[in-house]
Amino acid sequence: MNLMQLIKLVLDDAYAAIKAPTEANKDAQIKKGLEYLTSEYGKLVSPTSAIIDYRDEVKRFAYIYKYTVAHADYLMQLIQRSDELRKLMGKKSLEVACLGGGHGSDLLGILKYLITEGTSDLSLKCYIFDKERAWGDSWSDVASQLKPPFQLYPVFQQMDVADKSTWRSYRKFLRADFFTLIYFLSELWKIKTQSEPFFDHCLSQMKSGALMLFVDNNDSRFRDWFDQMAKKHGLDVVKSDEGWLAFSNDEEKNDLGEYFGKFGWPKRKSDVAWRIVRRP
Ligand SMILES: C[S@@+](CC[C@H](N)C(=O)[O-])C[C@H]1O[C@@H](n2cnc3c(N)ncnc32)[C@H](O)[C@@H]1O
Repeated sequence: MNLMQLIKLVLDDAYAAIKAPTEANKDAQIKKGLEYLTSEYGKLVSPTSAIIDYRDEVKRFAYIYKYTVAHADYLMQLIQRSDELRKLMGKKSLEVACLGGGHGSDLLGILKYLITEGTSDLSLKCYIFDKERAWGDSWSDVASQLKPPFQLYPVFQQMDVADKSTWRSYRKFLRADFFTLIYFLSELWKIKTQSEPFFDHCLSQMKSGALMLFVDNNDSRFRDWFDQMAKKHGLDVVKSDEGWLAFSNDEEKNDLGEYFGKFGWPKRKSDVAWRIVRRP
């Protein structure tokens, strides 16, 4: 099974979980959900924007459909472009912590890179940290369904960055080789002050040599927030860049099956900022 086929299966589960009297009604709810996400993600820094509640099945389907493929692909491309990340992915044993990675894009991006490279001699442990427990359900079967040619152990850990009691006892992930923060800081912008103790906890205790990849909307508020935290904790900047990333593989639309006809193109290009930092 390839990654798109896996996403299609996850979408099928997410679609089936939506309760509606008819299919037409279900599709109408999803279209509304897609419009809602476009609108809310367009105004993340506005005080009137909502904290998106992903307990709602419609919003979960809409997010996976619209953003997961693109975000996974961007992550794969950034690994391909970076000598340091490629070298890291060449290890035989790897631990990764995807912060705010509940949607699964971070894990899928890493898997896409490894599968494209033909990696087989690897044990990959992937901690996925997120506030929304329901995401764990969406991705818990990844390893058994995808059957990658290497060992894969996804571990979902629920936490709310703004609530220390939910994350202070998690310690194992601090020894990860690689941390991802993909479109996470922009989501937390409204609770920036409350979120910072969590990032202080991670950035101050990452092991020496560990790498962190930040990717987000190319907005100085998010870039500066990440840059300031990296500086505060003495992390070395390996790469700092901004620009457009595009996902344009036409073939993949066929793998979205009937959903493509109903809901159109998922996101394919974005103006992003990215950083790779390393703990000395
Ligand atoms: C925009 S999504 C990014 C997901 C994924 N990294 C990607 O690139 O597609 C932001 C994620 O942050 C999670 N999140 C929002 N607030 C959070 C909080 N206070 N603590 C932990 N996770 C949170 C959401 O559930 C969501 O999965």
